Amino acid sequence: MNQDEYLKQKAEEYRKKHQEQVKNDPYYPQYHIASPVGLLNDPNGWIQWNGTYHLFFQWMPFDTAHGAKFWGHVRSENLVDWQLEAPALTPSSWYDKDGCYSGSAIVHEGKLYLFYTGNVKNDEVREAYQCLATSTDGQVFHKQGVQIEVPDGYTAHFRDPKVWKEGTKWYMVIGAQTDQEKGSVVWYESEDLNDWTFRGELSSGFGYMWECPDYFQLDGKDILLFSPQGLSASGIDYQNTYQSGYVIGEWKDDFTHGPFVELDRGFDFYAPQTTKDEHGRRLLFGWMGMADDNEPHHPTISNQWIHQLTIPRELVREGDRLYQKPVPELKELRETKEEHTFYDNWNGPIPRVSEWYFEVSKEKDIHMSIFRYATMEYNASEKSIRFTRPRLDNGEIEERIGMLNEPLHSLHCYLDHSSIELFVNGGALTFSARMFPDPNEETFEVKGSGTLSIWSLRKSVGGGD
Ligand code: FRU
Repeated sequence: MNQDEYLKQKAEEYRKKHQEQVKNDPYYPQYHIASPVGLLNDPNGWIQWNGTYHLFFQWMPFDTAHGAKFWGHVRSENLVDWQLEAPALTPSSWYDKDGCYSGSAIVHEGKLYLFYTGNVKNDEVREAYQCLATSTDGQVFHKQGVQIEVPDGYTAHFRDPKVWKEGTKWYMVIGAQTDQEKGSVVWYESEDLNDWTFRGELSSGFGYMWECPDYFQLDGKDILLFSPQGLSASGIDYQNTYQSGYVIGEWKDDFTHGPFVELDRGFDFYAPQTTKDEHGRRLLFGWMGMADDNEPHHPTISNQWIHQLTIPRELVREGDRLYQKPVPELKELRETKEEHTFYDNWNGPIPRVSEWYFEVSKEKDIHMSIFRYATMEYNASEKSIRFTRPRLDNGEIEERIGMLNEPLHSLHCYLDHSSIELFVNGGALTFSARMFPDPNEETFEVKGSGTLSIWSLRKSVGGGD
């Protein structure tokens, strides 16, 4: 048995061994993609191919901490139900032995191409290789080896290739750190997906490393999405340990763009990746997690798993801002519906796994308490949204704030066993966070006026199987 077969078999044994414990955890999600066992982080290789959605993820099957990552693999016909596949990549070659790190997928001449970073660490000395693997059936992937080595002027923090086609050429962006320890994104081009020519920096300027770049056009504008590390908190911005956001502009000879904007205002959102699906939509998944001080305190660690992804979201551009919207396919999860129209306040139990939509009828301050754990407050004079939850490491209340350009008119929320995703004013702001209230707590309290629709949500196949 070669190393690849050995690692796949060992991961499957691990998964089977802990399956009951993981799936019986009251915090294991019912319809989000989560780690089958061990640790999950970034979404990778996000693509639709011949109708089927394929999504890969950074996966450490053997531990609830970071380590030599695999590429886990799930697929779906409807963006709701997900089937777990065999891992696509294992850290089994000299050039990826310490991790098949993040990357992307494209389709070319009937084959699926995965571009990823081979991580190598010998005596704490890091090496990074941009690598290729291909598949004809979307199930078994064949490594094709190293395509790109770190160019002069950059450190071995050089990773996360995202590839796309424009005209007859292929392009790749890579997250990088300069020798002066500045974060940047560099780009390459290729005629044949084999020989890649280094073209320089697309953007740079702040932080010490930019991870997981993603370039795409939306409605006539050029957008670069990336996850910078090393930004200091400033007012209500950059409050998380690491950030994720975008710049919008025009890429002609140079890429001229506006300021960096954080994509999500919550506690747990990192390393998002997009794809254009066969309906022409720009769809995004993010890791609903963060390598921060809370991470070692997740209560799920005792059940051998940690972390989940967001729901799939569509990105829509409005001027120089991106809006995020839950994909309409998720409506298939809805089971029972209740609706309450009220003035001033409403209290009641709501299902732990639910979707709700609150349409505001009177412009005034609003306060919500969710399962006696998290809160959402709208300050009408400031047009601000404040979201709080207790820290996982010491229980102190922590907050995140976002500002609206117009009065609050709607809140749309997806709750799973241990997560909340709040879409404010049609996705103008989003707050994504993990949360661990008492599993039996269903109390929901609202101070405000409006109509609240609540749907209980079914279990999706694969989500909690
Ligand atoms: C982002 C990241 C990537 C890297 C991967 C390793 O969370 O650090 O830059 O490829 O995770 O798992």
